[in-house]
Amino acid sequence: MTTRAGVSQSETDTRNAAFWNELCGSGLARSIGIDDRTTESLRKFDEAYMAMYPYLARYVTAESLPGKKTLEIGLGYGTLGQLITSRGSQYHGLDIADGPVEMMRYRLALLGKEAAARVQTGSALDIPYPDGTFDYVYSIGCLHHTGARAAADEVCVGGVDGPPPGQLRRDRPSLLRYQRGG
Ligand SMILES: C[S@@+](CC[C@H](N)C(=O)[O-])C[C@H]1O[C@@H](n2cnc3c(N)ncnc32)[C@H](O)[C@@H]1O
Repeated sequence: MTTRAGVSQSETDTRNAAFWNELCGSGLARSIGIDDRTTESLRKFDEAYMAMYPYLARYVTAESLPGKKTLEIGLGYGTLGQLITSRGSQYHGLDIADGPVEMMRYRLALLGKEAAARVQTGSALDIPYPDGTFDYVYSIGCLHHTGARAAADEVCVGGVDGPPPGQLRRDRPSLLRYQRGG
């Protein structure tokens, strides 16, 4: 398969995995003097990240997530994943690069949550869960990097029961959220 940029899908995936191994958000972290992963440094990072994207939190806080199965795709520095987890959901994470996966596992471990099995390296184009597994899928600033229009379809069909009755929302240019039964 060839992406719209004329590069093979496997080459695009390989480049994405290498590029994003340095966590998305590393520039922000450096700019505010963060060079470690202590709880305090992560808190400071999360505060700065949420100040940059103030509209994000309500997509999580407005939902009743306790006990719900959630999947986040494209994890970056892990700020949103930690928020989704803190809302009592059964959080799962997926990213094509090892760095973000390792960071999210680290964050979950700090929170005393089951980590390794729930956060996996893998692609949005081939979600490694059966159809209908998740109640909510969150993906911020990720799907356009896959180079494939099919990414949004895969989120709907592979991640959760496809629409209807679910709802696929693109409330912001790079925010995609799927809610089953919405
Ligand atoms: C721009 S960053 C956004 C990270 C985070 N959601 C945020 O808002 O800061 C894109 C993320 O998507 C991941 N990614 C890129 N292509 C992917 C794919 N095909 N499948 C899963 N994750 C992918 C990257 O590794 C990276 O962590």
